[in-house]
Amino acid sequence: MTADRPDIVPAALDIDVPHSARMYDYYLGGKENFRADREAAEKVIAAAPEAPLMARENRAFMNRAVAHLAADHGVRQFLDIGTGIPTGPNLHEIVQAIDPAARIVYADYDPLVLTHARALLGGTREGRTAYLQADLREPLPLLASDEVRDTLDLTRPVGLCLVAILHFITDEEDPYGVVRTLLDGLPSGSYLTLSHAVSDAATAGAGSIVSTYQKSSSSLTLRTTEQIRAFFDGLDLLDPGVTLVPAWRPAGPLPDGHERVWIAGGVARLP
Ligand SMILES: C[S@@+](CC[C@H](N)C(=O)[O-])C[C@H]1O[C@@H](n2cnc3c(N)ncnc32)[C@H](O)[C@@H]1O
Repeated sequence: MTADRPDIVPAALDIDVPHSARMYDYYLGGKENFRADREAAEKVIAAAPEAPLMARENRAFMNRAVAHLAADHGVRQFLDIGTGIPTGPNLHEIVQAIDPAARIVYADYDPLVLTHARALLGGTREGRTAYLQADLREPLPLLASDEVRDTLDLTRPVGLCLVAILHFITDEEDPYGVVRTLLDGLPSGSYLTLSHAVSDAATAGAGSIVSTYQKSSSSLTLRTTEQIRAFFDGLDLLDPGVTLVPAWRPAGPLPDGHERVWIAGGVARLP
């Protein structure tokens, strides 16, 4: 249990319970998953065959968003919470290709993610890449951690990434308060990049997916587009606002099946 929130039990490496990070790895065609993860992921795919496409499109959204922030808005420091098992290209590879001196802190609560991240997420010699095992539901200790303090300069803009993680935070766990606390710790000119499973675009299998995740390490809470937009309250949304992720500044023609990708995302600047 963690010091400040005795109700929060840190995720342990339990291979008999499906974990969201390892299920996501399976959708993306990765190998860092166990039988329980594969069985749960296959149940999800049976209910929503679009799940692997959603994972790829979500990842592509994150890639476009951080490249845009680094290339066009000069962001040189990123805090990525809910990193997931490394999947190329990883965030630091994208932004350090734009500026090798860019600094990145990755945070996730899954110990398997930590193991792989330490092995794979090396980064450039000029820049810095740190990894932290931390729980999003405890934003203050996360911001106060040595990894964040030693790697990022919190007087300068930071690109905070909460990509496909907030739907694992229930209403009781106060996802809006968590986002507000993180943003309060960042200076003006910082950016929030966020994506989230969206109920009003969900296909028929969504109900069954929610019950599959109920038996995993993290339950899934779908939210409406309006509720997802509310995470950006008080911030200046970049064009094109909150959209389904394939439609957020696409690099080319939208992929086949893009209308079945029920994840919405956006990027906004902290004034
Ligand atoms: C669907 S994956 C998203 C990975 C990556 N952000 C992406 O979009 O490609 C969700 C990640 O969030 C992590 N996660 C879920 N709840 C978390 C929490 N409370 N604190 C930290 N990480 C969490 C999971 O371990 C998993 O790695």
